[in-house]
Amino acid sequence: MLAEPRHPYTGILARAFPRMGDQASRMAPAGLAGEPPDLREEAAGCPFAPRCPEVLPQCRERDVQLWAAGPERESACIRVLDEFRPEPNGAALADTAKPHAALPEPVRSTDEEPVLEARGLRVVFPPRAGRGPARAVDGVNLQIGRGEIVALIGESGCGKSTLARALVGLVTPAGGEVRYAGTTLRYSGAALREHRRHVQLVLQDPAGALNPRQTVFDAVAEGPRLHGMRAGLTDRVNGALSRAGLRPPGQFVGRYPHELSGGQQQRVVIAGALALDPSVIVADEPVSSLDASVRGEILKLVLNLRDQLSLAALIVSHDLGVAWNIADRVAVMYLGRIVEVGPVSEVLLRPRHPYTKALLSVLPDGSNDRPGRVLGGEPPDPTNIPPGCRFHPRCPRLAALPAGDDRAELCLSTPVPVLPAAGDDSGEGSVAGSLVACHLAAIDVVEESSLAGPGQRFSQEAR
Ligand SMILES: Nc1ncnc2c1ncn2[C@@H]1O[C@H](COP(=O)(O)OP(=O)(O)OP(=O)(O)O)[C@@H](O)[C@H]1O
Ligand code: SF4
Ligand code: SF4
Ligand SMILES: [Mg+2]
Repeated sequence: MLAEPRHPYTGILARAFPRMGDQASRMAPAGLAGEPPDLREEAAGCPFAPRCPEVLPQCRERDVQLWAAGPERESACIRVLDEFRPEPNGAALADTAKPHAALPEPVRSTDEEPVLEARGLRVVFPPRAGRGPARAVDGVNLQIGRGEIVALIGESGCGKSTLARALVGLVTPAGGEVRYAGTTLRYSGAALREHRRHVQLVLQDPAGALNPRQTVFDAVAEGPRLHGMRAGLTDRVNGALSRAGLRPPGQFVGRYPHELSGGQQQRVVIAGALALDPSVIVADEPVSSLDASVRGEILKLVLNLRDQLSLAALIVSHDLGVAWNIADRVAVMYLGRIVEVGPVSEVLLRPRHPYTKALLSVLPDGSNDRPGRVLGGEPPDPTNIPPGCRFHPRCPRLAALPAGDDRAELCLSTPVPVLPAAGDDSGEGSVAGSLVACHLAAIDVVEESSLAGPGQRFSQEAR
């Protein structure tokens, strides 16, 4: 059903989580425009017609029912009937509703000053409950360029939210620095307020982020009021709501959060960030609490804001599909460190770090019903970071080394250097602008390039 949907709505849901390498979904997240229908209204014809990308004039006249749509298949769409079938052979409906053409990959200039940067950033939480200090962020270098979208990916507890909070100045680092447009963040009240005007945080759960007793207007106006921007406040709030896709804003300003759908609530949260005209948003899991069809609409909004306002974004997610859908670059985090970073098409299609490969191997893939290789071992603990390479207790690459192989000693006892912020093709360990924190990755590149021709360099490992 997911491979060949027979209803346009199923097609949108099936494409909401993209397959890595599917160029049609690169920079083109699938989503469903509009809002769910009002169940109190009697509508003639197909109830999905107002939002359907394949609507026909007859859809609004003819009542739908579940019709046979192939062996053991039924669909409530008139397009499965012979007279409305899109193609004589009844090809998959999804083919007629392809998302718009993928955008070209943007090229980032490494000469330009990054808009937001972490340099050697460390965040340590104090010891508690008999455990030592937690090194949640343990030496991170990361740059976000103007108008660039960077995805920060990694499993639960690896330090993504702590890094995100440190970048907006909500957590004071134990070491290193956060820089905005080349200036180091200081932690006085005035400096933090100024920083947060330019660097805005968007949280995961919009229902929790909004005060249930505050109208949409007050929720969006809160930031400008805190920053003393009282002149032209109504225009500022209306403009932010429009840019966040809540149009016309007059329809929304007087509503309370419970009168909005989850997607609309997330748009209000984003409007609250936009009301301060920031240069960067740091969005912590912005779509993980939303349903599949709304997810694509919010991701499209982030892309549009970049195109229209040159707004840069750090998008935190445990979902690699988010990176494939909208990010220019991706940084993969493990136990407080970035272990691989580079352009999305490099890192996600030619992963070099065993951890990135493991994350990719468990993604569902239409061509493969078998579950991927789930990472074994204990979940990582920032109060007890292993010696040598911090990924070694769980590393499939290390586990696959033949007994007695000298390289194992490197993994077990030699710490892997912290990755610098940006890769260029001349940098040590850099391939096509991506960087990887693994002793064996560089050796693998050399060995594989001697085994395979150009272009097949990583194919054996990537499998
Ligand atoms: N205030 C705190 N005090 C002590 N430890 C903390 C605190 N906040 C986070 N941690 C620990 O720091 C580590 C990183 O947490 P963080 O919330 O940044 O992870 P995450 O990658 O965002 O995870 P998730 O995907 O579950 O949101 C975790 O081990 C967590 O238990
Ligand atoms: S009946 Fe028409 S509007 Fe309804 S799902 Fe099918 S094509 Fe879309
Ligand atoms: S350095 Fe060794 S243990 Fe670490 S990721 Fe590479 S192969 Fe695995
Ligand atoms: Mg988190």
